[in-house]
Amino acid sequence: MELIGNRLSQPANIPAPRLEVQHLTRRFGGRAVVDDVSLTIEPGQVTCLLGQSGCGKSTTLRIIAGVDMQDEGKIFVDGKLICDTLYRVPPEGRSIGLMFQDFALFPHLSVADNVGFGLKGARGDKRARVGELLERVAMSRYIDMYPHELSGGEQQRVALARALAPKPRIMLMDEPFSGLDERLRDGIRDETLSLLKEAGAAVLLVTHEPHEAMRMADQIALMRGGRIVQMGAPYNLYNAPVDRAAAGFFSDVNVIGGRVQGALTDTPFGAFLTPGLPDGTQVDIIFRPQHLKIDFDRNGRGPNPTPQDGTPARGVVERARFLGRESLVEFRMDFDGRVLKASVPNVFLPRPGTPLWLTVRRDRCFVFPAQG
Ligand SMILES: Nc1ncnc2c1ncn2[C@@H]1O[C@H](COP(=O)(O)OP(=O)(O)O)[C@@H](O)[C@H]1O
Ligand SMILES: [Mg+2]
Repeated sequence: MELIGNRLSQPANIPAPRLEVQHLTRRFGGRAVVDDVSLTIEPGQVTCLLGQSGCGKSTTLRIIAGVDMQDEGKIFVDGKLICDTLYRVPPEGRSIGLMFQDFALFPHLSVADNVGFGLKGARGDKRARVGELLERVAMSRYIDMYPHELSGGEQQRVALARALAPKPRIMLMDEPFSGLDERLRDGIRDETLSLLKEAGAAVLLVTHEPHEAMRMADQIALMRGGRIVQMGAPYNLYNAPVDRAAAGFFSDVNVIGGRVQGALTDTPFGAFLTPGLPDGTQVDIIFRPQHLKIDFDRNGRGPNPTPQDGTPARGVVERARFLGRESLVEFRMDFDGRVLKASVPNVFLPRPGTPLWLTVRRDRCFVFPAQG
């Protein structure tokens, strides 16, 4: 079993990743809901599986946990095979901690007994481990209380302590914060993150919230229709999205269209460099609201064109809202009546009907062949 179970591709001197998943596929009724998913996670690293509801995140997690079975693909922990389509280590033998959205504590057990539930060994050792964990989640003084006496955030911390108690090598978390009050969430996310880092487990966290993924992840795996469409650091996904939908997952985006001619695409904002695309290709030029620059109207004219910012185009303010850190202004553009959104730091609330001139930051645009 040892020999069969070892990963053959790993060079001897480099430690294997804590978790490695190769080509996982799961079909329901002929439809692949998880489709050729591969990823690796190192100890102490957090990877977020991010994607819309129904894209296959939970199914992926359930397969890794061992409560569902893939149709194809392999799972390795520290280089050892724990599951392929023939061989399968049962869930309890995988050294995996689980935390799901519905993290239900046992209502009839005290905080201490909840945390100690999965622990084996002498009673004194268990008690010590429980005490240490409750200390770490700042819940020591609740040790003899019962779940119904705790707030949502407190229950969450107990559930985290319970999941970490057996020192799992891998933590799988499925939307663990979605049941919490919005106001508490960021704080609990940060606390959880430092605990997970300290415990040194490899973490796979499922979420449909880009904000949560950006906040928690070392690595984001963006999923769509069962496939991982892009994987990388949050910075890379935000600043180098693979397609229009990937760009639009992290913020509102503006889209203007055009047709490539001689490696350039002409638009109402001037010509954009669109190298590598054949003449006649219809493209979408995509940019985030914070990358529009706004200038005042000077007797029907805007600022002069520049190489960095191209040509200004005029729009009329349709709506302006203050969002706290920024203001969001929507413009109806003169050139084709479409609406573009601009976000401006602090307070900028021009009156609806005001004509203003917009330019686009060239270095922050993404160009993709148009869809459909
Ligand atoms: N046991 C099952 N039988 C049939 N279809 C399933 C089953 N489990 C999940 N699915 C389907 O697989 C797709 C992915 O589900 P899931 O992994 O739960 O998505 P997510 O967690 O990303 O929201 C959904 O369309 C869901 O209906
Ligand atoms: Mg799910």
